[in-house]
Amino acid sequence: MWMKLLLIVALAGIYTQAKEDGRGQISGEVEEARWRVAESPDAFKVRLSLKSALGDEAYTWNENELYLFRAAMAYTMRQYYMAEKGQQVNFTSENIVTSEVTPRISFFFYVTNPDAAATITKAEVEAAIRLSRGRINSAFLLSDDTLEFVGLLATLSPPAEPTVEVWLIVFGVVIGFVVLVGVFLIVSGFRNRRKRKLKMDDDDDEGKAGEEIESGGVTNSGFEEEDDRRTQL
Ligand SMILES: *[C@@H]1O[C@H](CO)[C@@H](O)[C@H](O)[C@H]1NC(C)=O
Repeated sequence: MWMKLLLIVALAGIYTQAKEDGRGQISGEVEEARWRVAESPDAFKVRLSLKSALGDEAYTWNENELYLFRAAMAYTMRQYYMAEKGQQVNFTSENIVTSEVTPRISFFFYVTNPDAAATITKAEVEAAIRLSRGRINSAFLLSDDTLEFVGLLATLSPPAEPTVEVWLIVFGVVIGFVVLVGVFLIVSGFRNRRKRKLKMDDDDDEGKAGEEIESGGVTNSGFEEEDDRRTQL
């Protein structure tokens, strides 16, 4: 009887010990995996510049922000699989494995496939990020420059921005030229008309004066000129 009880207690003790060991081993593996994230060929480095983006309004980066990042990346991967492959793949924050966050905020992450024990290739993650870049940025109130996927930015931004700027410049120059030409035409038209009108008035006066002076059978050149001009007009 006593032996039986002792045996039960001993077994229970061994069981609890084994359970704790197991748990310790698992969390150890997770820890180790986190440290190994950076070494994965499919890992991205993310660099954040909260201070330069938001100044005094900068929020502190903590576990919750990192969770939001993982959720945003899971969303990004879902959207990509839906848009590019027509598949509903249920990525969750668990599929975004991140490394330790360094104080000058940067960390590594890679993405695992929820339907298979494999990581998603860097090229695919990159394509997914490109698809949802704006949404990721806006979740953190940051821009391409202040939320940096290291190595991805260089190929992402330059083709997009300069073309817009070049087109703006060309557009501005053309519009400016057209406006200038228009203004010139209007102003010169006004001037010509005024000049002509003044000349016409002068001629009129001269004509009348001439008429008075040259009265008595002499041809009046002033009137002839005026007639010519009227027919032209
Ligand atoms: C993904 O989630 C949706 C909604 O929860 C579910 O209907 C669907 O079966 C899931 N797909 C897979 C492959 O697990």
